[in-house]
Amino acid sequence: MTHFTKLFHLSLVKSIVIASALFTASFAGADDSQALQLAQTSDGFNAEEKYMASCFACHSTGAAGAPKVEPGVYDAEWAERMEKGMEAVMQNVINGINAMPARGLCFDCNDADLQALVDYMISSSQ
Ligand code: HEC
Repeated sequence: MTHFTKLFHLSLVKSIVIASALFTASFAGADDSQALQLAQTSDGFNAEEKYMASCFACHSTGAAGAPKVEPGVYDAEWAERMEKGMEAVMQNVINGINAMPARGLCFDCNDADLQALVDYMISSSQ
């Protein structure tokens, strides 16, 4: 009984998270296919592989002022950037900013892939 209640809660929380993600997407004027893209990474997407292929070249060395990705640098490299909120950070990733190219040059990454890459970079910097 308690186990069932727990499971029920978990799936309820999950649906709320998905529903609010979809709501945010449609609120921003995205059509259904974009909303789906936001919610789902591409087939076969692997954050570590994509990071190595698209983002590593700049973000491992900190080239041109890119925030570095390596264990222990979060406070120095990421904390201040994240203060403006994930949404603003993702706008910079999608549109590019200064020497950061639009979509980090990953043109087969959808928005959910880019979000997963940023999550990967942040957790790899903790
Ligand atoms: C050509 C070099 C280059 C590549 C490739 C690159 N970046 Fe960046 N990135 C930068 C630089 C430089 C900045 C700092 C821009 C600034 O704030 O002036 C940056 C900043 C960022 C930020 C912080 C944005 C913010 O709002 O502070 C994120 C997140 C990020 N990159 C993600 C990625 C991801 C994900 C990829 C791969 C898909 C990627 N980058 C590929 C150079 C690069």
